[in-house]
Amino acid sequence: MSEKYGKLQQQFLCCYPVNKMAWSSVKLPLNWDEQQELLAATCGHPMNRRHPVRRSYLEAFLKQLMHLLKDQEDVHDDIYSRLCGGLGEGKGSGSGSGSGTSYAYKHYLISPGAHITLRECNSFVSEGTTGLCTWEAALALADYVLQHRDLVSGKNIVELGAGAGLVGILLKLPGLELKTGQVLLTDGSEPCVQLMRENIALNFHNTPVEEMPQAEQLDWDAVAEFPWKSHADTDLLLAADVIYDDSQFDALLGALDYFYTRRGGQLETLLASTVRNVDTLHKFMTLLGLHGYKVTPCANVSACASHFCRDHTAAVQIISIRR
Ligand SMILES: C[S@@+](CC[C@H](N)C(=O)[O-])C[C@H]1O[C@@H](n2cnc3c(N)ncnc32)[C@H](O)[C@@H]1O
Repeated sequence: MSEKYGKLQQQFLCCYPVNKMAWSSVKLPLNWDEQQELLAATCGHPMNRRHPVRRSYLEAFLKQLMHLLKDQEDVHDDIYSRLCGGLGEGKGSGSGSGSGTSYAYKHYLISPGAHITLRECNSFVSEGTTGLCTWEAALALADYVLQHRDLVSGKNIVELGAGAGLVGILLKLPGLELKTGQVLLTDGSEPCVQLMRENIALNFHNTPVEEMPQAEQLDWDAVAEFPWKSHADTDLLLAADVIYDDSQFDALLGALDYFYTRRGGQLETLLASTVRNVDTLHKFMTLLGLHGYKVTPCANVSACASHFCRDHTAAVQIISIRR
């Protein structure tokens, strides 16, 4: 696969905003073969042909490419034909689930030999949840885990509010060899749990069940009723972008109290939050203190060390919680 267009490829496959893509890596003019190479690295990539990104994203990408080539005499026919709907390959571009919700795929290229394909909802809020797509805080948490592999190695891990499943899937991805113990992805929303299971199936072909993450429905209010006996003791809790609605704070703290009452000092929680409203985050931090938790801020992974295409200007706060 094209080295020359590697960054654009990584960005295209995970639907990184078209106006922020590494277009400066494209040295103009592009001859016919180079245009073909660029298309093969992006829309023609086998992952995209099998599980396409959303149609509106593809169109925005192709329009930007045509704009880039506007001063050239030769613009490859494939650019026009793909833009005019000639794609016709693969399945599920903008496809519905039968519920009227529209879904498409994103591919997160993490390192050579390690990538995650996720089916995600095309809207930020759908079916009564915000969890059917991947949020910035999940990417930041995934980056943090990849930089601190010792934090997850040998640990039995539960993810709360796991949404589409990126972090939990990454923890068990064979190509990354993170050597985690049992990984349980949970969410209170049933559509999220269905989507996580679908995404687990997409990423773990021919993998023995015990080597795969599991996904179960878990509402923070009902943590005590969950059949924990059939799961290993939890060493690490993870959660990304779950601090935005203060009506859920009591439930989340109740869930944390439940875990820490069982595991005490053996348990650590890593919580990644996008800083949208400082007051909301501050309120949660105050409640953590009142519940007897010690909070340690963790350094975010810098843009140059990041394994993901993400917006490093968006403030994401990662904290470690212990009691
Ligand atoms: C903004 S999404 C974040 C999803 C994912 N962690 C990410 O960062 O991409 C918040 C998630 O928390 C879940 N959630 C919210 N309140 C919950 C509760 N009381 N119990 C369990 N899950 C809850 C939602 O269903 C949703 O999937």
